Order: sequence, then C-alpha cells, then structure tokens
Amino acid sequence: MKILGVNCVYHETSAALIIDGKVVNAVEEERFNRYKHGAEARVDNPDEIPLNSIRYCLEQGGIKAEELDAVCCSFHPGLREKEYTDDPYSLEGNWGSSEGEKTFILYKALQVDISDCFHWIPHHLAHAASTYYPSSFEKAAILVVDGIGEYSTTLLAYGKGSKIKTLKKLYFSDSLGFLWEKMSKFLGFSEYDACKVMGLAGYGNPLKYRKELSLIIKHDEKGSFSIAENVIQFRRESFDGLLSIFGSLNNDASGLTEKHKDIAAALQNITNRVMLSLANSIYEQYPCDALCIAGGVGLNCQSNWIIKEKGPYQRIYIPTAAHDAGTSMGAALYHYYNANSANGAANITSHASSKIMPHPYLGPAFSDDEIEQFLKSKNVQARKSDNLEAEAAQFIADGKIVAWFQGQMEFGPRALGNRSLLADPRNQNIREVMNTKVKHREVFRPFAPSILEEESSEWFALGKPSESLYYMLFACPVKPDKLDKIPAVIHVDNTARVQLVNQQTNPKYHQLISEFYKLTGVPIVLNTSFNDSEPIVCSPEDALATFFKTRIDVLVLGDYIIER
Ligand SMILES: [Fe+2]
Repeated sequence: MKILGVNCVYHETSAALIIDGKVVNAVEEERFNRYKHGAEARVDNPDEIPLNSIRYCLEQGGIKAEELDAVCCSFHPGLREKEYTDDPYSLEGNWGSSEGEKTFILYKALQVDISDCFHWIPHHLAHAASTYYPSSFEKAAILVVDGIGEYSTTLLAYGKGSKIKTLKKLYFSDSLGFLWEKMSKFLGFSEYDACKVMGLAGYGNPLKYRKELSLIIKHDEKGSFSIAENVIQFRRESFDGLLSIFGSLNNDASGLTEKHKDIAAALQNITNRVMLSLANSIYEQYPCDALCIAGGVGLNCQSNWIIKEKGPYQRIYIPTAAHDAGTSMGAALYHYYNANSANGAANITSHASSKIMPHPYLGPAFSDDEIEQFLKSKNVQARKSDNLEAEAAQFIADGKIVAWFQGQMEFGPRALGNRSLLADPRNQNIREVMNTKVKHREVFRPFAPSILEEESSEWFALGKPSESLYYMLFACPVKPDKLDKIPAVIHVDNTARVQLVNQQTNPKYHQLISEFYKLTGVPIVLNTSFNDSEPIVCSPEDALATFFKTRIDVLVLGDYIIER
C-alpha cells in the first residue's frame, strides 16, 4: 500500500511517502524552493503544490506516480464550507469573508485531477495522526493546538489501537496559535517569530501582566478556552484590542524594553496553564498514561515541559514536525490506519508493534561521490578525512564554528545533527561569535545543547522519559553544579532546549560529541541550524553558498573538510 501525503494549504508545504504504514521519507518544500515556510499563507494560492517535495518522495522511494494507491491532502474543503461562519473583522475577498472563502475552496477544488485515489483528510486529524501513529503508543490522549485547520483551532482526541476518535473541537476565533502570531507582531517581530517571544519570555516577570492576559484568554478546566475577539481580528493589522489593554509599545530601533519582556513572560505563562488544562481535560474524559501532542503550539518547549512534568501522563510524544509540514505525513498515515482498514483491506500493520518512524532523518542525502563531483565542479579546495569526527571535535574545542552536513536531512524545523552549526558550549562568547559570523539573530535567543544520551542525566533534569527529548522539544532545567560549565547553551532561566543524541540513530554525530567529550570532559556541543536567515541548507550547493556568504570557519560536507 503506497500512499503519498501532501500539505499544500496555508504554508509549511510538504510531502511524505508511506509504504505499508511505515514512513519512507518526508520533506518540506522550503528546503528545495528556498522560500521560508515553502509558500505564503494566502487565500488564493493553495493550488501551489509542493512539486519538488513530491518528486523527491517518489524518486527516493522508487515509486512511479501511477503506482500510488492513494494521495492524501491534509485539508478538507467540504469541512471548511460546513464549519465556516462569517468573521466580521475580515476584509472583503480575503480570509474569513464570503468571497475569500469561495476563492480559497475553489482553488483547492481545481487542483484535484487525480482520479479515484485522491482523499481530503481533515487538517487536525492529519496533525493527530502525525503524532499518534509514530508514537507507537497502543492508546493515548491526543492534543492538537494550532492557528486554524478548516475552521477548528484545537482538537481534543484519543487514539486506541489503529483508530483516532474526536472528543472535542474548539473553533476560530479561539485560537492559541493566532494569538501567538498576533502577539509576536505586537512585540515587534513577525508572525512566524513565536520562538523569539518564547526566548524573550525568560527575561520577563510573568506576574506583571497576568491580569491583562487574563482579559485576553479565559480558560476553564473542562478543555475550553476563549480569546477576546477584538484581539485576534483574523489577518488584519489592527492592534486596537491589544493597545487598549497594554497601551503602546516602542517597537523602533531602540530595542526591547522591560515591558516587552514582561508581556512575553505573561503570554508564555498563560499558554502553559491553558495547554496543561487542555491536557488534563482529555485525561478526565479518557484516562490513559500516554499523551501525543501536535500543531504549531506543540513546538513550544516550555509548555511541553510543564505538561510533561505537571500533567497526569507518564509518557509524552511530540513529533519533530509538529507544525503544518507534519500534516503531509499525518494525512497519509490517517488514511492508511482509518479509511483503509475500514474498507476491509488486509494486512494492516500495527503502528504500535513496529516502529513506523524510527528517526526524523527523512529528507535528501548526498553520497560522497556526489559531494566530490560537486566540489570539483566548483574548484573548491577540500580534503577527505578518515578521522572526521575527531577532527571536527578538535576544531570545535579550538573555538571554531563548524558546519556539519551529513546524511539525510531532518524533517521539521530543528536541525538535529545532520544540517547543523556546531560550537563550543563552554565559551560564553561563542553566542556572540555565532551571531556575528553567521546567524545574525537576537542576542537574547538561546542556543541549544546536543548531549550524549548516556551522560544526559548528569547535566540536565530530564524529568519523565520521552522520545521527544531527542528532538529539542522540552526546556529542561540544567543541573546546578553544571551551570558554570556550559554557559553558551543555558537560557537566562537556567533551562536548555536539550537534544539527547543516540548512538544507533545518529552514529556520526554521537561519535563527534564523544570525541569532544574526550578532549574537554564535556559531552555536549552547541547545536543550531545550518542557515543564515534562510531555510536550513538542503544540498551541498546550499551548504557551500551559506559557507561563502558567512564567516563559518569549517565546512564538513560528508567526509570532506573545507577550511576557510
Ligand atoms: Fe495546522
């Protein structure tokens, strides 16, 4: 059974190939077209399908399009039509207006030219499938929180065996994802900068604007929250609602003030409480020991930590692509495990008995031959190393920034050691060096540590076990006696967005960190994505272009080392 999943609605466009219930590959379109988030979230472009991603998935999977048993899209136009109600704040012809919605659905409908095997999968069920089936849990609560699906914004559900059942949906304009977009812009960032707000929150006092935030979000313990309608105003630039609550903010070049930090902290604080109450309410309706989370808000590593440690669940899974890109994989998995088995198809593989997605390295890879040919064609001086990990570790210990490009690229927004920039976590100044030489990002944003799994509990309070500790999805406290040893990867609140590194899953990266451990006594490297204000590099060509336009010291491309 060969199923292609596609996400082409809104943004974070992507494709994934599922064969007999297992994830063969998955990739985001931005990695190919070099446009951040793959496509602009517009009302008139959901027919822009991720052709590069689809081509990659089929070619790498050795599948011809005509061999596909199903093609699944992670959006259901009929459901949007059914659930949609007028948004009084929307602009005519745009999202939320009658004309705009017709345009949106019409474009989607026009794209359908795949005869009998095409299926629309409701957006939030695709998110739910993207986390439940890869989790391998036999049964689990499922929490999906994002900006908007068809018209719902939050899904409370559960998985049992191969089936996903809905418990409750919340609808626009009660959208935690959109509130973060709006607040990000209000604080002077873009709508995609939730991670900057999350970083800024660590510097603020969460109590100072707690009362104001409680005017914006109201929540109960029964799995509901509501957001003041005049604050969201779907895709409108008006900040009148926020201005009436907070007064004006100075968003010019003079920089961020204590007020920005305190508002960010209050937003993070109430988000933690809302997310925890949603998770708790599923438990009350469907008690079980496991929870799966997805949707863009599932990338909030502080809320994830709170749910993991304070919630009733013993096991939590969050996929690396919790955002919309993951819905391509989820749509295909949903179809395989639900519609497919309902139709009586034989031999449905149990998602729990075999690991259907053992790791997130599901994107393009390049052989050493390909890399060698490429470097020759560009007349780049490179040397092949037979001691690659040790050499790279020495560079890092010497204070250099190493671009580390290996194997298949990661699915999801975090670089997990195959398209990463690495540096010495012991050096407080390395943050500034990294920002000056490559990343050009705000100094308040923390960098993440990658640590040998075997040593991790010595350095971080990891709390309850979770596979997602391998994916940088929790902000874990650093052990007090280690705080002064790795200043470059510790946030102002003494937490770190840690990535555990497993020897089987990523042997080369594990070996590199082991070599660094031998040299320094620290089993950790600083890991940030290999890019500079662009999508993470995908090909050797992207890697070399970023190497040349920045001041990265060393580029390791497969087995080849290029020094500046
Ligand atoms: Fe979504």
